[in-house]
Amino acid sequence: MEKILVLDFGGQYNQLIARRVRDLKVYAEILPYTTPLETIKENGYRGIIFTGGPNSVYDEDSPHYDPEILKLGIPILGICYGAQLMSYMLNGKIEHAPTREYGNMEITVNNSSPLFKGVPEKTITWMSHTDYISKPPRGFTISAWSNSCPCAAMEMTKKRLYGVQFHPEVTHTQYGKKVLSNFLFGICGCKGDWEMGNFIDRTVKELREQIGDKGVVLGLSGGVDSNVAAALLSKAVGKQLTCVFVDQGLMRKNEGDEVEKAFSGLFEMNFVRVNCQETFYKALAGVTDPEEKRKIIGTEFYKVFWDEIRERYSEGFFAQGTIYPDRIESGKGDAAKIKTHHNQVGLPEDVHFEGVIEPLKDLFKDEVRRVGEELGLPKDLVWRQPFPGPGLGVRIIGEVTAEKVRILQDADWVLRDEVKKSGYEDELSQFFAVLPGVRTVGVMGDARTYSELIAIRAVTTDNFMTADWAKIPYDLLGRISSRIINEVDGVNRVVYDITQKPPATVEWE
Ligand code: XMP
Repeated sequence: MEKILVLDFGGQYNQLIARRVRDLKVYAEILPYTTPLETIKENGYRGIIFTGGPNSVYDEDSPHYDPEILKLGIPILGICYGAQLMSYMLNGKIEHAPTREYGNMEITVNNSSPLFKGVPEKTITWMSHTDYISKPPRGFTISAWSNSCPCAAMEMTKKRLYGVQFHPEVTHTQYGKKVLSNFLFGICGCKGDWEMGNFIDRTVKELREQIGDKGVVLGLSGGVDSNVAAALLSKAVGKQLTCVFVDQGLMRKNEGDEVEKAFSGLFEMNFVRVNCQETFYKALAGVTDPEEKRKIIGTEFYKVFWDEIRERYSEGFFAQGTIYPDRIESGKGDAAKIKTHHNQVGLPEDVHFEGVIEPLKDLFKDEVRRVGEELGLPKDLVWRQPFPGPGLGVRIIGEVTAEKVRILQDADWVLRDEVKKSGYEDELSQFFAVLPGVRTVGVMGDARTYSELIAIRAVTTDNFMTADWAKIPYDLLGRISSRIINEVDGVNRVVYDITQKPPATVEWE
């Protein structure tokens, strides 16, 4: 399989670069700049991309690399810091500008350069840098420039070394995709055969070889990643797969049943549902502190799950739905660590499997979804919004009880139903109901009520680090509110949360 290496120097766009390359159907993997040259040689890359990074090449502790990499004969594209580093390694001149160049910049390109083939002479690019290449190394020519940036791109075509000061991976760079595709196909000679269909066939074959006639057990949470991992493993080994689904009573309404229906009906496997709602409610009785609740839910989950596994399935393989971003820590080495939330749990010391299988470990979230769709998972299970590991436990403020869970599930169900019917669902990144545990006075018919308050939270975001509250139309909010009051016993007031993140978080606890 043809592969591109994205050598990570700590830039914030390293994952984006790999995704853009994969969008062009070439498999890309990210490795830290600390990766030994030997490993790079052994891996047979068609091309290497040096990412950007926050440092100056002259900083004492800035990330550098063995200049021998430039002699491997593998085409290299340096982006921003990556271009400066390439220049620095070959004795070009880097200078520190008095102010940072940031934002859209028009550059002029020499479109007889292989990198700029098909790019108009004047084009908008996106820049973010303070240092700049004032003189490229000997043997390099300048292939793009602007008023403020004497060397916006440089190249030594004979050795297939290229550097760009701008970021081709961000959408603000008009012809960024073209530049990357010129590099991949024109310069590296890639064919572009990385397809999800191929991924499935190849992975199924590998899984069959690895698992043989042994069993494999997967902790299924109902979230996208473990759902897709389950479907893929089912395709590979069918009944040899056992999925253990712990229903801790803190999921959305009917969610446990939907997961059970999909997996026991549509896919060949042994589906085991562990109903332990009461155990969780008991453990949470009287607990109000959010961190304490999180801890209890995590610990209980771990206990229930592993007791089940110990009792019945402690041989063969253990599978989990780790995905690529879980493994990458920018510039710090391949942090292949297991997430500590409920569907990716560390193995207790007394449980020994032959091996751990992570069939999605090289995929980004959107690729995981594409695999899920190709495997025939229902849309609802593939396009799930994020849902916190501790579930409704952190959407009920204060003590969690079975009755509060019932109220919140019903209110949340009405919210989801209305949003879905209105066609507004695709506008929202995440939306849910919260039960703040506050009772307020109301009047129904002639009687005074003193019932629960429901808050609605709906946000738009593309990264969840920051988020805006969604400007849901008033009439839709009105319908949600009256239906919740009419249909959910024990609620007499609904409010809408209009706080951005930051300062608020998406979840209330
Ligand atoms: P916050 O509340 O931190 O949420 O703004 C950002 C995103 O993370 C999700 N979230 C969690 N996911 N375990 C998870 O697996 C958790 O404990 C947890 N807390 C928050 C949240 O739903 C949102 O998508």
